[in-house]
This record gives sequence, C-alpha cells and structure tokens, in this order.
Amino acid sequence: MSILVTGGTGFIGSHTAVEMIEAGTKVLIVDNFSNSKPAVLDRIFRITGVKPEFVLCDLCDYDALEIVFANHPDIEGCIHFAGLKAVGESVQKPVEYYRNNLVSTMNLCQFLAKYGAKKLVFSSSATVYGKPASVPIREDFPLSCTNPYGETKLVIEYLLRDLVVADPEWSIVVLRYFNPIGAHKSGLMGEDPKGIPNNLLPYVSKVANGKLPYLHVFGNDYHTHDGTGVRDYIHVVDLARAHLDAIRYARERSGIDYINLGTGCGYSVLDIVHAYENATGKKVPYRIEARRPGDIDECYADPSKALRVLGWKAERNLEDMCRDSDHWQSLNPDGYPEKEEA
Ligand code: UD1
Repeated sequence: MSILVTGGTGFIGSHTAVEMIEAGTKVLIVDNFSNSKPAVLDRIFRITGVKPEFVLCDLCDYDALEIVFANHPDIEGCIHFAGLKAVGESVQKPVEYYRNNLVSTMNLCQFLAKYGAKKLVFSSSATVYGKPASVPIREDFPLSCTNPYGETKLVIEYLLRDLVVADPEWSIVVLRYFNPIGAHKSGLMGEDPKGIPNNLLPYVSKVANGKLPYLHVFGNDYHTHDGTGVRDYIHVVDLARAHLDAIRYARERSGIDYINLGTGCGYSVLDIVHAYENATGKKVPYRIEARRPGDIDECYADPSKALRVLGWKAERNLEDMCRDSDHWQSLNPDGYPEKEEA
C-alpha cells in the first residue's frame, strides 16, 4: 500500500516524504512544481537512498488526476500539502487562490472516495484562528480569517467536515500548523521561497548569510514582552513526523479531528534574532519599522491534543531550528538548483 503525498516536493511535503520513507512507508509524490523544483526529488534520494515514485500532475486537472489513481491501485490514503500559500499574493489574486486550492481538493476527495482510499491528512494552518481572543490556542477556539489564503483553508475544513457527515467511512485528520521553520539536518533540504521571503526565518537566514542587508522588524508596539510579534515556531522535521502519527491514527478510526501542531512556546521576532545569532555566531542586523497589515500580537498553540490523540510532541528546540535553517542556507545560498547535479 502507498500514501499519496500531494505537494510532496514543497517545504513540509519533502521533509514528510523523507520521514515516511525512512519509516518504511511507500510514498507516491505528485506535484506541479508551481512553487518547488525537481531537484528536491534527488535530494530525497540522497538522504534516504530511495527514489520516491513521482508523477508531475496538477490536481486541478481532473483527467490527469484520475490517471494517477487508475495507475496506482495501491493508494491507501493521502497527505494533502499541495496549495498556494502566500498571504499577500492571495489578496491580489483571490480567484486564483480559491480556484486552485478548492478545485484541487475537491478533485482529490472525489478520487480518494472512488478508489476506496478514504483516509486523508490535510495541511491546515493556525491562520484559521484569525485574531485569537487569548493564547495558548486550543482547537475548539472560534474560527475566522482575514485573507483569501486563510479562507481557502477554512472552506476546505468545512468541506471535509461535510464529507464525513455524508460518508462516515472517511477518516480525516486536519492538522493546523503554527510556524514551521528549520531544515533537514543534512543541509540537503530546506525552505526555498521564490524571490524575497515573506516569512521571518527565511528572511533572517538570508540576512545572516549576507544575501540581504538587514531584517525589517514589523512593529515593536505589540502587547508582548518586547513589543515584537510572538509566534510558535516548530521544526519542520518535528512537524513532518506528526504526519506519520496522523496517518497511523487515520487507519485506526473514522471521522474527523482537528489537531494543532506547535511547540506551545511563543517567541518574539527579537527572540528569534538573538537565538539565531547565538546558534550560528552570525550577526542579524535589523531595523524596527511599521507593523505589517493583518499581523497579530501573539499566536501560539496549546499542543496537548496532539500528545493525547497522536502521541506526538515537538522534540527540537529553537537552537536546533536556527542551526538547521542556517546550515541549509549556507550550503544552498540560492536554494535548490534548477537542474540537479548528476
Ligand atoms: C504567516 C501568514 C500566515 C501563514 C504563515 C505560514 C501573514 C500575515 N500570515 O504567518 O497566514 O499561515 O505565515 O508560515 O503573512 N516578521 C518581521 N519581518 C519579516 C517577516 C516577519 O518582523 O520580514 C514578523 C511578523 O510581523 C510576525 C513574525 O515575524 O510577527 C512572523 O511572521 P511570518 O513568518 O510571516 O509568519 P506569520 O505572520 O505568523
């Protein structure tokens, strides 16, 4: 039996594929390389010694996706990472975001049902909690969103909820990620954003390694210990491993569950700057600037449900996250190559 991994050449998908292969699970990766490169597949091979089966496929292409399922009757279930995820871009291109993220997921659900593989782990985000009334955030907190990207996550969560009502054979685990950072300890895989990074850690790594002059700290007048925004950063390998537990859980029961994946610790932007400097010995110059529209003061998880339900908790600390991010960045200053070296 195999697990279909959509978006398996992306940041979280690739790290999850490695952990699954190393745990002896057969994976079938599909991706359209809209935000990733084929070189990732070679890197997975270099780490695991296994060349994962891969199909180039856009999940919005109904006929192409049906062929994937028809050709792989051993698909048992799916981890669905694929999706557009840039908040700012989603505000500019709402139709593209809704169309891509919703049509792909609807197609996928149809074929998972048709081919008897009704086990799904879905990549959601803490963004579905909007501006939380308090922290730490529990899974039963009210849901709301402030941008089209977040809305697509929320609408998909509703779709999956309704799917389970209509057909109780489905087994769905919705994972709500906090802020994934870090990289594989080999330095062979990491986050490879296109252009100037939007998220904090990739930006910090580029500053520390001389690719960008300084970090723009977006606001220091938030209600936090030092005035800068507080988030729950989680090592991508810890996050990846949670997917193995989620698949195991999906095999054991039916229904739908929503599970936060975070460490439960909140760190500010300046905490990150200092941790990065301490972990790497590199300087991260910064300037305090205006708030970024839509940002919130604090966002960190209550991760106790993940421990209770999946038996999972994060094991890597902030120093590990900074060191591994920096290792990746220094070995791959321009990210993955367009074509992998032979
Ligand atoms: C962002 C998205 C969120 C998405 C998540 C995925 C926004 C508004 N939110 O979350 O929907 O699910 O990424 O990883 O984009 N910061 C700086 N300077 C920078 C970049 C960030 O000071 O150059 C600060 C931010 O103001 C924030 C913190 O760093 O306080 C983290 O920012 P970021 O990495 O973008 O993550 P989120 O905003 O939490």
